[in-house]
Formats: sequence, C-alpha cells, structure tokens
Amino acid sequence: MNAPARSRYRDDPEALRALVRDDAVHRDVYLDEEVFELERERLWARSWVYVGHESQVPAAGDCMTLDVAGRPLLMVRDEAGAVRVLMNRCAHKGAKLVSDGTANVGRFFRCPYHAWAYDLDGAVRAIPLRSGYEGTALASSDAARGLSSPAGVAVHRGFVFARLEGAGPSFDDWAGPMRAVIDAIADRSPAGRLRVAGAPIRSVYRANWKTYIENINDTVHPPATHQSANDAAGAVWAGQPPDAPRPMSMQQLLPFGSGWTFFERMGGRVLPGGHSVLGTQSSIHASYEGLDGYEAALVAAHGEARAHAVLAFAPQNAVLYPSVSMKAMPQAIRVIRPLAVDLTMVEAWAFQPVDAPELLSRRATTYNRLVFSPMSVLAHDDLHVFETIQQALRADGNPWVSLARGHVAPERDGETAEVGGTDERLIRNQFRAWAAAMGGAD
Ligand code: FES
Ligand SMILES: [Fe+2]
Repeated sequence: MNAPARSRYRDDPEALRALVRDDAVHRDVYLDEEVFELERERLWARSWVYVGHESQVPAAGDCMTLDVAGRPLLMVRDEAGAVRVLMNRCAHKGAKLVSDGTANVGRFFRCPYHAWAYDLDGAVRAIPLRSGYEGTALASSDAARGLSSPAGVAVHRGFVFARLEGAGPSFDDWAGPMRAVIDAIADRSPAGRLRVAGAPIRSVYRANWKTYIENINDTVHPPATHQSANDAAGAVWAGQPPDAPRPMSMQQLLPFGSGWTFFERMGGRVLPGGHSVLGTQSSIHASYEGLDGYEAALVAAHGEARAHAVLAFAPQNAVLYPSVSMKAMPQAIRVIRPLAVDLTMVEAWAFQPVDAPELLSRRATTYNRLVFSPMSVLAHDDLHVFETIQQALRADGNPWVSLARGHVAPERDGETAEVGGTDERLIRNQFRAWAAAMGGAD
C-alpha cells in the first residue's frame, strides 16, 4: 500500500509562512488547491464572515440560505423577532432543510426527507414514528440536539456576521473601528436603519477570491483597466458646459476617469485584522449632488454634528476582511464568496436608508448596474484581468506577485496607519491578516 501523499503546505508550516513576504506574495496563494482548503478551515471558518442583512428576512419564518467555507448555512427570523444563523443540515441524516434560495418556512422547519421538524431556533420539535426510538440512545445523541449553530453570531446595525468554528475575538474586538464605519452607513437613515433594495447582482468569475478583495484597494488600475469605459463616459459628456447638471449615471461614471493624483490624494487607513478604509479624504463618490430635505431630516434625527459627519463620510471602499466591502454613498456593499481556488462569486447589494429619499436606493441600484453588474461598462474590465491573472501566474520564471508600492520601512502587524490612496500597504495589510490566520494551529 502506498503511504498517504505528503501534503505540501498542511504538513509544512514553514512552507506556508514563506508564501507571504513583506512586499510580495507567492503565486500559490492564488493557485494552490491545498492552500484554498486551508483557507477555508483556518481563515473563512474561524473569522467573522458576513452572512446577510436582517432586512432580507423581515418576517418570522423568512429564511435565506448561503454557503460559507463549504458549509451550508441559513439565516432565519424566529417568532420572537430575532435573527438566527443555523447550519442548513438536518440533524437526522443530513438533508438540507431549505433548498438553496429564499423562502418563508412558516412556524417551523420540516425536513423534506423524513419530516423531522425543528423550531425556528433549531430545537427538535417533532420526530415522526417516535415509538420506534424507545429504548434507543437517540435522546442523548447529536441528532437530539437539533440543528447546529455557528460558534458565534453577531448583528451590528442590521448587518449579520457569523464565525463558524473555534474560539477567538468577539465581533466587537474583531471589527474594532469598522463598527463606526457600519454606524455611519446605518445613520444615513434618519431612523438609523437600512433595508435591502431588491435582490443582489451576482458575478461568478474564474479566478481566486483574493484578487477581488485586493483590487477593492487598488487605485492604480482604474486609469488603465477602465480606460475604454472612461473614454466612453467622457465622449458622452463631451461638449457640455461645466455647470450643466450631470445625470446620475454621469455623476457616477465620470470620476473613474480621474488621474492617479486624485487617487493618491484620496487617502487610505490601514486597520488591524486586514480591514481598511480607502478614501479617507475624498473619493469618486464625494461630489454627488445633495437631495432636497435629506440633510434637514438627518439633522433632525441625529443632531447637526452627527448628521454632517455622516454626510461627509463617502469612502471609496471600507473592507471588513475577508468577506465584505462597503460603501456609504451609494449605500452598496460587495460580498465575496469563494467557491473554489479558481472560482469566486461576488454579490453586490444596494440598500435604502429607511425614512430617506427613495433616490438614495436608486443611486445605489444604478451604481451597482453601471459598475458591478457583469453587463456593466466597468466590471468586466476587472473580471477579465482577474481571469488572465489566474492563467498567467503559471508562467515560468517569476512565481512572485509584487506588493512593493509604498513599502519603504518595516510595517508591524496590527497597526493603524494613514497612507496615500495608491499605497499597496492596503493590500499588504490583507495578506498580513491572511498569514496570521493561516499560521494558526490545526
Ligand atoms: S434527513 Fe431530515 S428527516 Fe431524515
Ligand atoms: Fe476596477
């Protein structure tokens, strides 16, 4: 019999650590299937990961499914009004309780296989043919405990996160200053609440998930990658007088054509845990026109200082690493769902701030269609490049991906730092968090 094949990275922590240098990463972080499996176990299953927004399940029994790190999950609103996250796995023989998608399951889950029923909190409610279990050990078995739950679930201002396994920091400690970012987005509503504006726009592309989350902090690429889109938007608007009111699409697209100086000056903040805020000083969203009555409504609700702080907060992207990137204006988020080492799904969700002008959610849905939809004028530029990266990293001669821009001095883990908007420290910081998670014990 052959001995089991030695596992290149699982059995060799040194080799795994060597994949991330101070200013470069090895191509295997994007290409290697074993690294992907280790990521699922060590990063995705043990980190706080974005599940969804509570407004996706507004009524008792409303339920949605998702997949994190290969585990089937569901988010459900229980009868007391609380949002719960449970494993979508029947305690009996493992059928999914809810097929993929969204549903209202009524007052309890009923498994489609042998009709075991569960309360909305996951407790076993009824087992058919119960007499057949008399005298058996079922009552003290795993099955009797009902549906499994993730190790942790946290809801912050309606945004639901879960940590599937293991011990670790609380959500509040993990998110740190990013909680204030979420607060600023939620406070764009006079009521302090958001609701999803319809279904997400989904893209599935044939490349590694990290290429996407690092691109969210890459401001050097727009003038090159999006040149044709920038030229097209410029051509549509050419000849307009400078004070001509810009339609929404032009307000959203023309700033992509800003030069590198603009992107450098927008500024970025590197935060512990791989998190970041890009666009601390300005962004491509900073000059959208004001809306009648909106500012007054925010001032009435939150007070003058808070309202103006909320309105002024328009970062390009705020990343809660590794699963979600948020914008405050438009209220749009992107959720990263790795499917395989070379296959990733991204969902773009738009939000309506409750009690605010409807135009705000139109801004977000329009932005998502113009910029994030696979049918948009921009997203395919990025996805095309991501897929070519996945292919071309196999080229012989140089296995390293450079992250050197701005790396002029040692950078310590867990530091908060203000950087220029084009500094790749925003990306190096993600890989520091990645390496810290991946170096964790089996
Ligand atoms: S697998 Fe669900 S009831 Fe049997
Ligand atoms: Fe892009």
